[in-house]
Amino acid sequence: MTDSIDPTAPILIFDSGVGGLTVLAALREIMPEVPVIFAADQAGLPYGTKSESEIAARVAGLLGRMSERYRPRLACIACNTASTIALSMVRDVLEIPIVGTVPAIKPAAARSKSGTIGLLGTEATVRQVYVDRLEAEFASGKRLLRQAAPGLVNAAEAKLRGQDIDPKAVRNAVAALRAQDGGDAIDTVVLACTHFPLLNTELQAEFGDEVDLIDGSRGIARRIAHLIEGQPIARGALSRAVTTGDIDAFRQLSPIFATYGIDRLDRF
Ligand code: DGL
Repeated sequence: MTDSIDPTAPILIFDSGVGGLTVLAALREIMPEVPVIFAADQAGLPYGTKSESEIAARVAGLLGRMSERYRPRLACIACNTASTIALSMVRDVLEIPIVGTVPAIKPAAARSKSGTIGLLGTEATVRQVYVDRLEAEFASGKRLLRQAAPGLVNAAEAKLRGQDIDPKAVRNAVAALRAQDGGDAIDTVVLACTHFPLLNTELQAEFGDEVDLIDGSRGIARRIAHLIEGQPIARGALSRAVTTGDIDAFRQLSPIFATYGIDRLDRF
Protein backbone atom coordinates (compact mmCIF):
# COMPACT_ATOMS: atom_id res chain seq x y z
CA MET A 1 0.00 0.00 0.00
CA THR A 2 2.67 2.51 1.06
CA ASP A 3 4.73 1.48 -2.00
CA SER A 4 2.11 3.10 -4.21
CA ILE A 5 2.47 6.51 -2.51
CA ASP A 6 4.38 9.05 -4.57
CA PRO A 7 7.14 10.36 -2.23
CA THR A 8 6.52 13.89 -3.52
CA ALA A 9 2.75 13.72 -2.84
CA PRO A 10 1.84 16.53 -0.46
CA ILE A 11 -0.44 16.83 2.52
CA LEU A 12 -3.21 19.27 1.69
CA ILE A 13 -4.03 21.65 4.54
CA PHE A 14 -7.22 23.54 3.80
CA ASP A 15 -8.82 26.51 5.56
CA SER A 16 -10.87 29.56 4.67
CA GLY A 17 -7.82 31.68 5.44
CA VAL A 18 -4.64 31.72 7.47
CA GLY A 19 -6.09 29.85 10.46
CA GLY A 20 -4.72 26.64 8.97
CA LEU A 21 -1.25 27.95 9.78
CA THR A 22 -1.81 26.95 13.40
CA VAL A 23 -2.17 23.35 12.22
CA LEU A 24 0.76 23.68 9.81
CA ALA A 25 2.95 25.02 12.62
CA ALA A 26 2.13 22.00 14.80
CA LEU A 27 2.73 19.63 11.87
CA ARG A 28 6.11 21.19 11.09
CA GLU A 29 7.21 20.58 14.71
CA ILE A 30 6.95 16.85 14.16
CA MET A 31 7.26 16.52 10.35
CA PRO A 32 9.58 19.25 9.09
CA GLU A 33 10.18 17.55 5.73
CA VAL A 34 6.80 16.43 4.46
CA PRO A 35 5.63 18.25 1.31
CA VAL A 36 2.59 20.42 1.95
CA ILE A 37 0.00 22.34 -0.06
CA PHE A 38 -1.49 25.01 2.13
CA ALA A 39 -4.80 26.13 0.62
CA ALA A 40 -6.64 29.24 1.81
CA ASP A 41 -10.11 29.88 0.41
CA GLN A 42 -9.85 33.60 1.03
CA ALA A 43 -12.39 34.36 -1.70
CA GLY A 44 -14.86 32.54 0.55
CA LEU A 45 -13.66 34.00 3.87
CA PRO A 46 -15.34 34.16 6.35
CA TYR A 47 -17.08 30.79 6.46
CA GLY A 48 -18.52 31.47 9.88
CA THR A 49 -21.26 33.78 8.63
CA LYS A 50 -22.35 31.48 5.78
CA SER A 51 -25.11 28.89 5.74
CA GLU A 52 -24.47 25.17 6.21
CA SER A 53 -25.38 24.37 2.59
CA GLU A 54 -23.14 27.11 1.21
CA ILE A 55 -20.16 25.94 3.29
CA ALA A 56 -20.71 22.26 2.46
CA ALA A 57 -20.96 22.89 -1.29
CA ARG A 58 -17.96 25.20 -1.34
CA VAL A 59 -15.68 22.98 0.74
CA ALA A 60 -16.58 19.73 -1.01
CA GLY A 61 -16.24 21.36 -4.45
CA LEU A 62 -12.89 23.00 -3.74
CA LEU A 63 -11.38 19.95 -2.05
CA GLY A 64 -12.44 17.83 -5.00
CA ARG A 65 -10.77 20.16 -7.50
CA MET A 66 -7.67 20.59 -5.34
CA SER A 67 -7.30 16.85 -4.93
CA GLU A 68 -7.43 16.36 -8.68
CA ARG A 69 -4.87 19.07 -9.26
CA TYR A 70 -2.36 18.36 -6.47
CA ARG A 71 -2.89 14.63 -5.85
CA PRO A 72 -2.37 14.86 -2.07
CA ARG A 73 -1.75 11.72 0.01
CA LEU A 74 -4.03 13.10 2.75
CA ALA A 75 -6.16 16.20 3.27
CA CYS A 76 -6.68 18.05 6.51
CA ILE A 77 -9.65 20.38 6.83
CA ALA A 78 -7.88 22.82 9.14
CA CYS A 79 -11.09 24.68 9.88
CA ASN A 80 -13.61 23.90 12.61
CA THR A 81 -16.46 25.50 10.70
CA ALA A 82 -15.88 23.44 7.56
CA SER A 83 -15.15 20.25 9.51
CA THR A 84 -18.19 20.34 11.77
CA ILE A 85 -20.39 20.85 8.70
CA ALA A 86 -18.77 19.04 5.79
CA LEU A 87 -16.38 16.39 7.12
CA SER A 88 -18.54 13.36 6.43
CA MET A 89 -19.57 14.68 3.01
CA VAL A 90 -15.94 15.22 2.00
CA ARG A 91 -15.03 11.75 3.29
CA ASP A 92 -17.77 10.33 1.07
CA VAL A 93 -16.40 11.92 -2.10
CA LEU A 94 -12.62 11.78 -1.73
CA GLU A 95 -10.65 8.57 -1.69
CA ILE A 96 -7.77 9.80 0.46
CA PRO A 97 -7.75 9.98 4.27
CA ILE A 98 -9.37 13.18 5.54
CA VAL A 99 -8.44 14.62 8.92
CA GLY A 100 -10.90 17.06 10.40
CA THR A 101 -10.49 19.78 12.97
CA VAL A 102 -13.16 19.61 15.61
CA PRO A 103 -13.47 21.60 18.83
CA ALA A 104 -11.12 20.26 21.53
CA ILE A 105 -13.93 19.69 24.05
CA LYS A 106 -12.55 16.35 25.22
CA PRO A 107 -9.17 17.64 26.48
CA ALA A 108 -10.80 20.79 27.84
CA ALA A 109 -13.29 18.75 29.88
CA ALA A 110 -10.44 16.64 31.24
CA ARG A 111 -8.51 19.78 32.22
CA SER A 112 -11.27 21.89 33.77
CA LYS A 113 -11.41 21.89 37.56
CA SER A 114 -14.33 24.26 37.95
CA GLY A 115 -16.42 22.22 35.51
CA THR A 116 -17.30 25.31 33.48
CA ILE A 117 -15.75 25.41 30.03
CA GLY A 118 -15.95 28.25 27.53
CA LEU A 119 -15.92 27.72 23.79
CA LEU A 120 -15.10 30.43 21.27
CA GLY A 121 -15.90 29.65 17.65
CA THR A 122 -17.51 31.09 14.56
CA GLU A 123 -21.26 31.69 14.41
CA ALA A 124 -21.68 28.59 12.26
CA THR A 125 -19.56 26.34 14.49
CA VAL A 126 -21.27 27.14 17.78
CA ARG A 127 -24.69 26.09 16.43
CA GLN A 128 -23.59 22.72 15.01
CA VAL A 129 -25.14 19.42 16.07
CA TYR A 130 -21.60 18.06 15.81
CA VAL A 131 -20.70 20.26 18.80
CA ASP A 132 -23.83 19.08 20.67
CA ARG A 133 -22.60 15.53 20.17
CA LEU A 134 -19.07 16.29 21.39
CA GLU A 135 -20.56 18.02 24.42
CA ALA A 136 -22.82 15.06 25.22
CA GLU A 137 -20.00 12.57 24.76
CA PHE A 138 -17.14 14.31 26.54
CA ALA A 139 -18.55 17.08 28.72
CA SER A 140 -21.66 15.62 30.29
CA GLY A 141 -21.82 16.75 33.89
CA LYS A 142 -19.84 19.87 32.95
CA ARG A 143 -21.11 23.18 31.75
CA LEU A 144 -20.14 24.27 28.24
CA LEU A 145 -20.74 27.93 27.40
CA ARG A 146 -20.48 28.64 23.68
CA GLN A 147 -19.78 32.06 22.24
CA ALA A 148 -19.62 33.15 18.61
CA ALA A 149 -16.66 35.47 18.11
CA PRO A 150 -16.67 36.44 14.42
CA GLY A 151 -14.53 39.55 15.02
CA LEU A 152 -11.57 37.36 15.94
CA VAL A 153 -11.29 35.89 12.44
CA ASN A 154 -10.59 39.28 10.86
CA ALA A 155 -8.34 40.25 13.75
CA ALA A 156 -6.22 37.13 13.22
CA GLU A 157 -5.98 37.72 9.46
CA ALA A 158 -4.95 41.36 10.12
CA LYS A 159 -2.38 40.39 12.74
CA LEU A 160 -0.68 38.05 10.34
CA ARG A 161 -0.49 40.77 7.70
CA GLY A 162 1.35 42.87 10.28
CA GLN A 163 -1.57 45.26 10.78
CA ASP A 164 -2.72 46.57 14.12
CA ILE A 165 -5.61 44.60 15.47
CA ASP A 166 -8.64 46.20 17.02
CA PRO A 167 -8.30 45.49 20.77
CA LYS A 168 -12.10 45.65 21.02
CA ALA A 169 -12.40 42.47 18.96
CA VAL A 170 -10.66 40.43 21.67
CA ARG A 171 -12.16 42.37 24.58
CA ASN A 172 -15.73 41.98 23.27
CA ALA A 173 -15.38 38.26 22.62
CA VAL A 174 -14.06 37.57 26.11
CA ALA A 175 -16.59 39.89 27.78
CA ALA A 176 -19.50 38.23 25.94
CA LEU A 177 -18.39 34.77 27.08
CA ARG A 178 -17.86 35.93 30.66
CA ALA A 179 -21.26 37.65 30.67
CA GLN A 180 -23.10 34.39 30.07
CA ASP A 181 -24.83 32.82 33.03
CA GLY A 182 -22.05 31.05 35.01
CA GLY A 183 -19.31 32.66 32.88
CA ASP A 184 -17.34 33.76 35.94
CA ALA A 185 -16.53 30.12 36.73
CA ILE A 186 -14.85 29.43 33.37
CA ASP A 187 -11.33 28.09 33.91
CA THR A 188 -10.77 26.49 30.49
CA VAL A 189 -11.56 27.85 27.04
CA VAL A 190 -11.68 25.85 23.82
CA LEU A 191 -10.40 27.86 20.86
CA ALA A 192 -12.77 26.23 18.37
CA CYS A 193 -11.57 28.08 15.30
CA THR A 194 -8.13 27.58 13.83
CA HIS A 195 -7.69 31.33 13.48
CA PHE A 196 -7.95 31.97 17.20
CA PRO A 197 -4.62 30.50 18.44
CA LEU A 198 -2.99 33.20 16.30
CA LEU A 199 -4.37 35.57 18.97
CA ASN A 200 -3.25 33.45 21.93
CA THR A 201 -1.24 36.24 23.53
CA GLU A 202 -4.08 38.76 23.28
CA LEU A 203 -6.71 36.26 24.47
CA GLN A 204 -4.57 35.06 27.38
CA ALA A 205 -3.99 38.64 28.49
CA GLU A 206 -7.72 39.32 28.42
CA PHE A 207 -8.80 36.10 30.18
CA GLY A 208 -5.98 36.20 32.72
CA ASP A 209 -3.38 33.54 33.51
CA GLU A 210 -5.74 31.41 35.54
CA VAL A 211 -7.67 30.41 32.40
CA ASP A 212 -6.27 27.63 30.19
CA LEU A 213 -6.69 28.06 26.43
CA ILE A 214 -6.97 24.77 24.56
CA ASP A 215 -6.82 24.15 20.83
CA GLY A 216 -6.58 20.97 18.83
CA SER A 217 -3.61 21.74 16.57
CA ARG A 218 -1.07 19.39 18.20
CA GLY A 219 -3.55 16.53 18.32
CA ILE A 220 -4.37 17.02 14.65
CA ALA A 221 -0.68 17.06 13.71
CA ARG A 222 -0.15 13.80 15.62
CA ARG A 223 -3.14 12.24 13.84
CA ILE A 224 -1.73 13.21 10.42
CA ALA A 225 1.71 11.84 11.34
CA HIS A 226 0.12 8.60 12.50
CA LEU A 227 -1.88 8.17 9.29
CA ILE A 228 1.13 8.64 7.01
CA GLU A 229 3.55 6.69 9.17
CA GLY A 230 5.85 4.52 7.09
CA GLN A 231 5.08 6.31 3.82
CA PRO A 232 8.00 7.46 1.64
CA ILE A 233 8.73 11.19 1.86
CA ALA A 234 10.93 12.96 -0.69
CA ARG A 235 13.20 15.39 1.09
CA GLY A 236 13.18 18.80 -0.52
CA ALA A 237 9.99 18.17 -2.56
CA LEU A 238 8.02 21.29 -3.37
CA SER A 239 5.71 22.74 -0.75
CA ARG A 240 3.44 25.58 -1.71
CA ALA A 241 0.59 27.78 -0.62
CA VAL A 242 -2.37 28.74 -2.78
CA THR A 243 -5.22 31.17 -2.28
CA THR A 244 -8.54 31.60 -4.05
CA GLY A 245 -8.32 35.30 -3.15
CA ASP A 246 -6.01 38.20 -3.93
CA ILE A 247 -2.53 36.89 -4.70
CA ASP A 248 -0.72 40.19 -4.02
CA ALA A 249 -2.15 40.43 -0.51
CA PHE A 250 -1.36 36.73 -0.01
CA ARG A 251 2.26 37.22 -1.07
CA GLN A 252 2.72 39.66 1.82
CA LEU A 253 2.68 36.52 3.95
CA SER A 254 5.70 35.03 2.11
CA PRO A 255 8.12 35.48 5.04
CA ILE A 256 5.74 33.63 7.36
CA PHE A 257 5.25 30.79 4.87
CA ALA A 258 9.03 30.59 4.38
CA THR A 259 9.43 29.77 8.08
CA TYR A 260 7.30 26.67 7.42
CA GLY A 261 9.31 25.60 4.39
CA ILE A 262 6.87 27.05 1.82
CA ASP A 263 8.55 29.21 -0.78
CA ARG A 264 6.03 29.21 -3.59
CA LEU A 265 2.73 31.09 -3.39
CA ASP A 266 0.17 30.89 -6.19
CA ARG A 267 -3.43 31.69 -6.96
CA PHE A 268 -5.71 28.63 -7.16
N1 DGL B 1 -10.66 29.02 10.53
C1 DGL B 1 -12.03 28.71 10.48
C2 DGL B 1 -12.45 27.80 11.63
O1 DGL B 1 -11.62 27.09 12.17
C3 DGL B 1 -13.08 29.75 10.26
C4 DGL B 1 -12.87 31.15 9.94
C5 DGL B 1 -13.98 31.66 9.05
O2 DGL B 1 -15.01 32.15 9.56
O3 DGL B 1 -13.82 31.54 7.84
O4 DGL B 1 -13.59 27.73 12.01
